[in-house]
Amino acid sequence: MNGITICGTGAAVPENRLTNEDLTRMVDTSDEWITTRTGIKSRYISQTETTTGLAAEAGRLAIENSGIDPKKIGLLIVATFTPDNLTPSVACMVQRELGLNEVSMAAFDLNAACSGFVYSLAAAGGMLAAMPDKYALVIGAEVLSRTIDYTDRGTCILFGDGAGAAVVKHRNDARLVSYLDSRGDDRIICAASAGKKCYAPQKLFMNGRDVYQFAVDIVPRCIENVLEQAGYTLDDIKYVICHQANARIIAAVSERLGAAPGQFVQNIESYGNTSAASIPILLDELNRGGRLTRGDKLVMAGFGGGLTWGAMMTEW
Ligand SMILES: CC(C)(COP(=O)(O)OP(=O)(O)OC[C@H]1O[C@@H](n2cnc3c(N)ncnc32)[C@H](O)[C@@H]1OP(=O)(O)O)[C@@H](O)C(=O)NCCC(=O)NCCS
Repeated sequence: MNGITICGTGAAVPENRLTNEDLTRMVDTSDEWITTRTGIKSRYISQTETTTGLAAEAGRLAIENSGIDPKKIGLLIVATFTPDNLTPSVACMVQRELGLNEVSMAAFDLNAACSGFVYSLAAAGGMLAAMPDKYALVIGAEVLSRTIDYTDRGTCILFGDGAGAAVVKHRNDARLVSYLDSRGDDRIICAASAGKKCYAPQKLFMNGRDVYQFAVDIVPRCIENVLEQAGYTLDDIKYVICHQANARIIAAVSERLGAAPGQFVQNIESYGNTSAASIPILLDELNRGGRLTRGDKLVMAGFGGGLTWGAMMTEW
């Protein structure tokens, strides 16, 4: 069997916090509009921090939290769609930043936008089965602010920067239950470079209303899929950690599935949508807040650009 267990977590955000009040001085919006439509109050925006720097700090904290010997890391995956360079990957630069260049490991970036952390955990689960004595360091990291048009009030209020990380170990006595899916679609799109032949906008573009409908439809089905595969119902699950895109999306999914109050955890108020980083940042908050006990069953669900979506069930 190729299950996984999470041994430690970490997170890092830029120093600079941008509040809704700050945004009212940049675009025609209000704290009331942003709060009621999205649940977001503030987000962290990089001034000097890089994707690599945030990822490395989150990774360092996750290693420290797990107490493992970093020389036993055999796999380093960074989920991101805002890498600092096309090559070298953020993952390779994190390996160097952490002083692990002498440690033999596979290191690569994975782009599944906001589903990236769930995709990366699933990939790690599969790869760790072939190296059961090793650990994987799985990180979600984004500096989304460099893709955002701060004159577009429809998108600039939503996104924030940050990174979250987990140290993951193979588990023989558990099954990795995941469901990953995709469909090529440019409802969320951002060009890779400023090249003349790019057909996509240079800044992130999204049809918000369409994406909202897509999320509310697809996320409950993802979660039901993994619960069914695992032979559980929602009552067996301690927390559902959804990608933090919009508090209204999370509330609609939670309601559709008949979840208990507090089962769908949230921290979007303070971070906004940090794409691949949102799930591991929230996981780290739960861990450091003492809210997780070994054996707790967790469901994580992501959705976003690609389009991609996916869910995973794991035991803490
Ligand atoms: C973006 C989003 C918050 C917009 O909320 P909405 O309720 O769908 O709002 P609409 O886009 O229909 O716009 C409603 C009105 O508010 C206005 N508006 C848009 N952004 C605004 C802002 N920041 N402040 C004030 N008004 C705003 C619009 O111009 C529109 O005005 P109009 O009715 O005069 O045309 C919402 O669609 C959403 O969250 N979608 C999902 C996005 C997402 O999660 N993407 C990432 C997925 S990983």
